[in-house]
Amino acid sequence: MRAIDVIRKKRDGGELSPEEIEFFISSYTSDRIPDYQAAAWLMAVLLRGMTRAEIAAFTESMLHSGSVLDFSDLPGCKVDKHSTGGVGDKTSLVIAPTVAAAGVLVPMISGRGLGHSGGTLDKLESIPGFNVNLSLAEFRRVLATCGCALIGQTAEIAPADKKLYALRDVTATVESPPLICGSIMSKKLAEGIDALVLDVKTGSGAFMKSEEAATSLAELMVETGVRMGKKMVALITDMDQPLGNKVGNALEIEECIEVMRGAGPADLRELCLELAAWMLFLAGRVTSLDEGQRLAAELIASGAALEKFREIITLQGGDASVIDDTGRLPQAHNRLPILSRSNGFVVSIQCEQVGVASLVLGGGREKKDDSIDPAVGVVVHKKVGAAVHAGEPLSTVHYNSDARLSEARRLLEESYAIAPQPPISRRPLIHRIIQGIRHVEAGT
Ligand code: URA
Repeated sequence: MRAIDVIRKKRDGGELSPEEIEFFISSYTSDRIPDYQAAAWLMAVLLRGMTRAEIAAFTESMLHSGSVLDFSDLPGCKVDKHSTGGVGDKTSLVIAPTVAAAGVLVPMISGRGLGHSGGTLDKLESIPGFNVNLSLAEFRRVLATCGCALIGQTAEIAPADKKLYALRDVTATVESPPLICGSIMSKKLAEGIDALVLDVKTGSGAFMKSEEAATSLAELMVETGVRMGKKMVALITDMDQPLGNKVGNALEIEECIEVMRGAGPADLRELCLELAAWMLFLAGRVTSLDEGQRLAAELIASGAALEKFREIITLQGGDASVIDDTGRLPQAHNRLPILSRSNGFVVSIQCEQVGVASLVLGGGREKKDDSIDPAVGVVVHKKVGAAVHAGEPLSTVHYNSDARLSEARRLLEESYAIAPQPPISRRPLIHRIIQGIRHVEAGT
């Protein structure tokens, strides 16, 4: 079999066989196919799509590119949550410690920033010393000791995704439902979980801009998980404006600590409680979502969630004193407020542009080997619906390099739409919930 034939077949709209997909994924993982051919194949998949059968074969090849963990000797249900990616989307860092504080095991394998969206691993690495590259033995030890461990893909777990993810990030091949499904589900199915909560984003800052596209991606992933014997739910949640107020790696850690201190922005707290409730419910720790919400809120109010976060940071080699003094997190040297030019109300925020602004400042990667500046980012002061006066700050840029500032500033200035009247309707934070094959409208 030759890589070029597989690329050509997909380019021309053909359906690849499981053998062709397995050949391509295993050869790329073992460096027998170069990045340029893999990039061409990714673009062909993005443009042509994949059938259900191709997606199943792709996910299985990615999953079996490495080991599949087994934690069945550890007591209780193991549960995880994964997001399709957004801007200021930092819920994992609140809910993983919260759910672990309830006694449920959370083995979490996360990704780095992808396109304009941030990544849990990059955020965690802004905590001095935090090691996301644990060996599998260390991963198990941390999980068994404190109930939660947070790592990235290793050479052992879904290594195909590790390579493809980095390549997609810089080749404009992120926004493809089959590629997202294979990427997320291979990591999640490899991590030895029994249940998975998916947070599928929709809106201007999501990869799936429309609710329909987000729903069909969610169905694809739920179906894949159910087929592999997992308890699954997907929440379609809003990403039409940044979640919370802070965007950027260290800034987002700071905001998660605020939430675990019982403060923080209302939208972020609400989504964290909802996702944590679903995790507790699927794990069988509570018998209803209301009870799950109450338990998660209690664990935050009592400080148990924050203490669990401290334990995780310490066990993974990080400096847990950032919890008591967030000033110890990396700080940008310069700040620039972005001022409103008019009086009125914020009617929309082009959310992807806010993510790109953070990336351009150095918070994300433009090329595979770029390093990240953990300190930079954007603090959003005015969200959709807020009243503003001319000259008032809409957001503040945290930056270290003057050369990167002007592009970020332009993106942020252009991202806000201000009108004399407030928006007529507000988008809900949770649009819809998809459990198994059953659809449940939010609120019913
Ligand atoms: N998160 C992932 O892990 N993979 C994707 O492709 C998108 C979001």
